[in-house]
Amino acid sequence: MPTSADCQETMRALPGGLPITPRRGEVCGGERACQTGRVTQTAFDEETGRQLEALYRIGDVVRRRGLVRSSLAAAPGERILDVGCGPGFLSAELHQEVGPAGSVVGVDSSPAMLALAARRCQGRKNVTFHKGDATSLPVADASFDAAVCVQVLEYVADTPAALRELYRALRPGGRVVVWDIDWATVSWHSMDPARMARVLEAWDEHLAHPSLPRVLAPAMRSAGFQDVRMEPHPFASARFDPGSYGVAIIPAISSFVSGRRGVSGDEAKAWASEQNNLGERGEFYFASLQFCFLGERSS
Ligand SMILES: C[S@@+](CC[C@H](N)C(=O)[O-])C[C@H]1O[C@@H](n2cnc3c(N)ncnc32)[C@H](O)[C@@H]1O
Repeated sequence: MPTSADCQETMRALPGGLPITPRRGEVCGGERACQTGRVTQTAFDEETGRQLEALYRIGDVVRRRGLVRSSLAAAPGERILDVGCGPGFLSAELHQEVGPAGSVVGVDSSPAMLALAARRCQGRKNVTFHKGDATSLPVADASFDAAVCVQVLEYVADTPAALRELYRALRPGGRVVVWDIDWATVSWHSMDPARMARVLEAWDEHLAHPSLPRVLAPAMRSAGFQDVRMEPHPFASARFDPGSYGVAIIPAISSFVSGRRGVSGDEAKAWASEQNNLGERGEFYFASLQFCFLGERSS
């Protein structure tokens, strides 16, 4: 179990004296972030794998992969690294782009995710998956033309170490695309705003850094990346559309927050049921920002 001292260590390790971003309602992201976020965050096990297999097929997530691919602009023959590859949807799509002369290597710390990714890409000789941590990648120096890391760093406590590893893996002039969510940008309609606030606070515990995009650009520059750019992308819906991100994540939120931060199981169910009711009445509203960061290893 991480101690407060571990947490202080992580905070000191962040570039330019940047603190871990505060969680909702906190003045700074100190001990609570350490004691809750890193201990209780999402377990990427078989159950989460089943949830992600469904979530990653919805329209908004397909659109997100399209945005990532367009930012990365992979060319035939390129060697691509997919850090935190999850169930392998993006690796499979990148494989189509690099073609038979290129290659895709996926790395993930979760055996359950790696099993899904391997099944998805079965029979494709130039796509391989390896177990490894984002902070210690099992790949050679300068061995990739480009790397992607989509919605992964927000789960990794030591952001600077993971960014240094991405940099190390790229050849000079290689490109990186990092995508994360600022969960504090979520604006979500409810007739019970106090309950909504508690649910979102509890949901913040599902990851290490609920607002990582706020510090990602300087962190990338400190890791050595140059020409760092940020592209914000809204994910919003005023319809109860099952293909929209806000609707699709309701079951995962409801099950995760149950029993956390004072949200009881009944309250979590009531929260989800209110969203269904708002949807039926045509009153559903969800909006949030996700961020794509691009950078290059100097030539
Ligand atoms: C939200 S999923 C994103 C999956 C994939 N990048 C995508 O967008 O389709 C996060 C993934 O990051 C992986 N992950 C979390 N922490 C990690 C770490 N320290 N090192 C490697 N992978 C990690 C999880 O196992 C999970 O597969």
